[in-house]
Amino acid sequence: MKMRVTVYNCRAFDEKELFEKYGKELGIELVLCPDAPDKENAALAKGSECIDILTSRMPKELLSVFADYGVRYITTRTIGYDHIDQKAASALGITIANAPYGPCGVADYTVMLILMTIRKMKRIIERTNIQDYSLSGIQGRELKDLTVGVIGTGRIGRTVIKDLSGFGCPLLAYDLYESQEVKQSGVPYVSLDEIWQKADVITLHVPLTDGNYHMIDEKAISRMKDGVMIVNTARGGLIDTGALISGIECGKIGGVGLDVVENEFGLYYYDHKSDILNNRELALLRGFPNVTISHHMAFYTDDCVETVVRDSLMGCKYFMEGMENPWEIKENQSKDGGGISDKACDRQEEESCGILK
Ligand code: NAI
Repeated sequence: MKMRVTVYNCRAFDEKELFEKYGKELGIELVLCPDAPDKENAALAKGSECIDILTSRMPKELLSVFADYGVRYITTRTIGYDHIDQKAASALGITIANAPYGPCGVADYTVMLILMTIRKMKRIIERTNIQDYSLSGIQGRELKDLTVGVIGTGRIGRTVIKDLSGFGCPLLAYDLYESQEVKQSGVPYVSLDEIWQKADVITLHVPLTDGNYHMIDEKAISRMKDGVMIVNTARGGLIDTGALISGIECGKIGGVGLDVVENEFGLYYYDHKSDILNNRELALLRGFPNVTISHHMAFYTDDCVETVVRDSLMGCKYFMEGMENPWEIKENQSKDGGGISDKACDRQEEESCGILK
C-alpha cells in the first residue's frame, strides 16, 4: 500500500514545491491542504496514517476526529509541540513528532539586530532613502567596547555566544541551567541582576513561561545601564511593552531590536497595509528612530523551511515503516529546562499566528 500523508497549512509560495520534491523522493503520496486542520477538512486525512501540521491547536476533540479517520501519527513542522494535547493524543493511540531546525538562522538574525541597533541602522537607511547623507545623530558604537548579556543559553543562546565571540566583546550569561560548553568557552554565568547592571546590550533567548513573563519590566529597566540596548528574538511576552516604551521615551534605553512583540496575534504574517490597527504599542515602537522591528522572521530561512518539510516527511516514513524515529516526542518530554505551562503555551500560540516558530 502506498504511503500517504495529509499536509495542513501548506504554504504555496515556499513549501509546496519542497513537499512535492521530498514526497517523490521518499515515495509518499501527499494531500496538500492550505488551511489549518479542523473538523470540516479532517476528512482529507482519510486513508492517511500521518498528518503534517503547523502551530494550529490540536485539542482532544479535534484529535479524536482525526483518530476516527485512522490517523495514528501527527508531525508538526515546528520546534514547539505544545499546541498538541499530548495526553489526549497518547490516549487515542496517536504518536506525535516535531521537526526542529537548526539555531543558526535565529542566531544570525540576532547578531544582525544587535549590529543594526548599535550602529543606528534604521536611521541610516531612512536617511539614505531620502538622499539625506548627513552624519549628525547616527554615530554608532563598536561591539568590542560593549558587554553583551545573553539570557538563555540553550541552542540559540549558545550559538549567539559562539558567533559573538569573534567580535571581542565581553559576554555574560544567565540561564536556569548552566551549560558546560558556555563555561568552558570562558563566558561567566552571573545573576539576572548582574546582567541588568553590567550589560550594554541584552539579548533574550528563553522560552516564555509563567515564571519569566515580563522579565524585563519597569524594575528591571531601572537597574540597567543608561543607554542600554535590548534585542528580543525570543517571545514578546518576556518584555513589558509599556515599561519598554517609557524607558525609550525617557532616554534610559538607547536602542531596541525586536523580532517579536506582545500581541502579535492577528497582525504578523498578514498584509495589513490598508488597515487601521488596534495595537498602539506597536505603532509607538515603530515610530521611534532607535527601534528596529521585524515581524517574527528570525527563523525564516531557506534552510529552516527545507529542513522542516524534509524531516517532517522523513518522520512519517519512519513511522509508517516501523523504524526508529528521532523526531518522535516521548510522553512528558519537555524541550526546555523548566517546561512550558499551559498558560505560557496559550500565549505562545497567540503570538505565533499559525506559522513556524
Ligand atoms: P532551548 O530550549 O534550546 O533553550 C532555552 C533555554 O532557556 C534553556 O537553556 C533553558 O534552561 C532556558 N530557560 C528556560 N526558562 C528560563 C528562565 N525562566 N530563565 C532563564 N533561562 C531559562 O530553546 P532555543 O531553541 O534556544 O530557543 C529559545 C527561544 O527562542 C524559544 O523558546 C523561542 O521562544 C524563541 N524562538 C524564536 C524564533 C523566531 O523566529 N524569532 C524561532 C525559534 C525560537
